[in-house]
Amino acid sequence: MPDQSLTLIQFLLEERRRLDADRDLTTLLHSVATACKAVSSSLKSGALADVLGNLDTENVQGETQKKLDVIANDIFLRRCEFSGVLAAMVSEEMDEVYPIPTQFPKGRYVLLFDPLDGSSNIDVNVSVGSIFSIIRLDETPEEESYDAVLRPGYEQVAAGYALYGPSTMLVLSTGEGVNAFTLDGNIGEFRLTQRNLRIREDGSEFAINASRARWWEPPVKRYIDECIAGESGPRGRDFNMRWIASMVAEVHRVLLRGGVFIYPKDSKNAELGGKLRLFYEANPMAFLIEQAGGMATTGRQRILDIKSNSPHERVPVMLGARSEIQRLIDYHSEFDTV
Ligand code: AHG
Ligand code: MN
Ligand code: MN
Repeated sequence: MPDQSLTLIQFLLEERRRLDADRDLTTLLHSVATACKAVSSSLKSGALADVLGNLDTENVQGETQKKLDVIANDIFLRRCEFSGVLAAMVSEEMDEVYPIPTQFPKGRYVLLFDPLDGSSNIDVNVSVGSIFSIIRLDETPEEESYDAVLRPGYEQVAAGYALYGPSTMLVLSTGEGVNAFTLDGNIGEFRLTQRNLRIREDGSEFAINASRARWWEPPVKRYIDECIAGESGPRGRDFNMRWIASMVAEVHRVLLRGGVFIYPKDSKNAELGGKLRLFYEANPMAFLIEQAGGMATTGRQRILDIKSNSPHERVPVMLGARSEIQRLIDYHSEFDTV
């Protein structure tokens, strides 16, 4: 495969020439990729560098911060504020929208990110990731305000994630399909390893935290019960269950092997609106999944159509192969109409 030798920056430059795209977006994606390489490097040393474990602090969502949550957040801020193309940043680990410090030039882009996703897995050395979403504003805002920078997901111009697994990968879309890169440690660069990922329709895996089953809504329970019934149930075939507790790793599997990933709103988390956050978890993953031919919904609304003024808004998330997600949507609408 001749493409295998392309580095990320070569790929981005090629895409920019082909699509006559904005030079600033290439600059920003390069900064994000550099941040991901730096996070990957911090993770690798683990206990040797004393980066595991909790801090005494909580983030705005009341979650105890891990040392690496804060380290990864700082890496993203320092690597990206310098780019000169950003108006603001939004992070899971920061209460408010982060304005670009005055010593740096500003631009029209907004970067929204989860610096370390699946961080409960860090201390047990299981895969984690970083997730990012990029919006281009019509103009550089004079003063950052939630209204200016918090745009619906359909306005994303790029989104992606880094997966820190047995190898470090960067999976990216600029609205022209989904491409996957693997970090080549010998040269310190991401290299294109899979072009134009498409979600299989014949996958047979579902991912949901089944310990919450007693709080699920009936349409979710119906879908999962039918999967578990397997060959002898209404689906007429067997399914397999997966739960890594790391959205990046789950979405990566869905992109490569099909199936679905579900984190619903249930009676226990209903007051919060769900578990996963709209701007830096649901939106970027929904963008990638749609770009790979799949669907992403709350069960009742397309994720990318949701509007919110709250940077840490939580939403139900169901994403994956079209036919499976359509089935979930149908089950919700059947339930809502009786
Ligand atoms: P984060 O580590 O950024 O807070 O996100 C964790 C998320 C997501 O990655 C995962 O799918 C889910 O939380 C796991 O939730 P459970 O603890 O219910 O398994
Ligand atoms: Mn997360
Ligand atoms: Mn996180």
